[in-house]
Amino acid sequence: MASLAVSLNRLSLANPILVASGTFGYAREMEAFVDFSRLGGIIPKTITPLPRRGNPPPRTVETASGMLNSIGLDNDGIDYFIASHLPYLLSLDTAIIANIAGKDVGEFVSMASRLGQVEGLAGLELNISCPNVSGGVDFGTNPEMAAKVVSAVRSACGLPVIAKLTPNVTSIAAIAQAAAEAGADAVSLVNTFLGMAIDWRKRRPVLGNTLGGLSGPAIKPLALRCVYQVAQNVDVPVIGIGGIASIDDVMEFLVAGASAVQIGTANFYNPGVSETLAGALETCLADIGVESVGAVIGSLS
Ligand code: FUM
Repeated sequence: MASLAVSLNRLSLANPILVASGTFGYAREMEAFVDFSRLGGIIPKTITPLPRRGNPPPRTVETASGMLNSIGLDNDGIDYFIASHLPYLLSLDTAIIANIAGKDVGEFVSMASRLGQVEGLAGLELNISCPNVSGGVDFGTNPEMAAKVVSAVRSACGLPVIAKLTPNVTSIAAIAQAAAEAGADAVSLVNTFLGMAIDWRKRRPVLGNTLGGLSGPAIKPLALRCVYQVAQNVDVPVIGIGGIASIDDVMEFLVAGASAVQIGTANFYNPGVSETLAGALETCLADIGVESVGAVIGSLS
């Protein structure tokens, strides 16, 4: 069997198959469907300093080969996360990477320093890319601000840091470069593409918040392009996200330069897909006769 282990600077994973924040709840919801020990890691829903009610409904709408969401970072806040979700998450036999969002650098720093004291967390993913709240996404659309938040979090805690990037920019490589120079161990991309749906008969937007983020197979070629551009131009491990649902999708992202991938929207219609893909990756690597997943990463000629 090929070795599946990957190292993304200070973050080591047993295999490169992660589940994306916001698509897997806080894992309890998925325990009937997935053997968590088969995954490289779990990234629970984004947490914020205080509880948030999120955006008005409807918050999701299905589109051609995709899904729009406008959840608005609905969550119970970091206190509840630490008290009620983390003990369960940390009892699981897989890497747990907390995903945090703040309105300003101070909020990121205070959450990072609290989580940095928790024994057993594998890393932090900074959500600087949510398109559904005002303010937070600014960190992900401006290289200086991205660098500022990454470097402040690096100083505030000793956990490996992943910056989750938005594709809604002119040059995602420029943002990735700034995050890398500021000390990000890895960058994850892409978060959702800003979009909208209209009920023309009612002359109304479908989503309660008018705009939402598009994910799923519809965005895969765009996400693959982003991963390729960042991997070609920036010296930082990339975690690929965007419409990954099959082993061919996983392999395409790895060949394009991703060191790991996150499975997102597919969890909604096939809750066991992440475990299936972890098994399929082993088989695929054996079939092509490589000794480790590293032989495939960035192997595009
Ligand atoms: O609206 C949301 O909660 C989505 C978050 C994200 O895309 O990061």
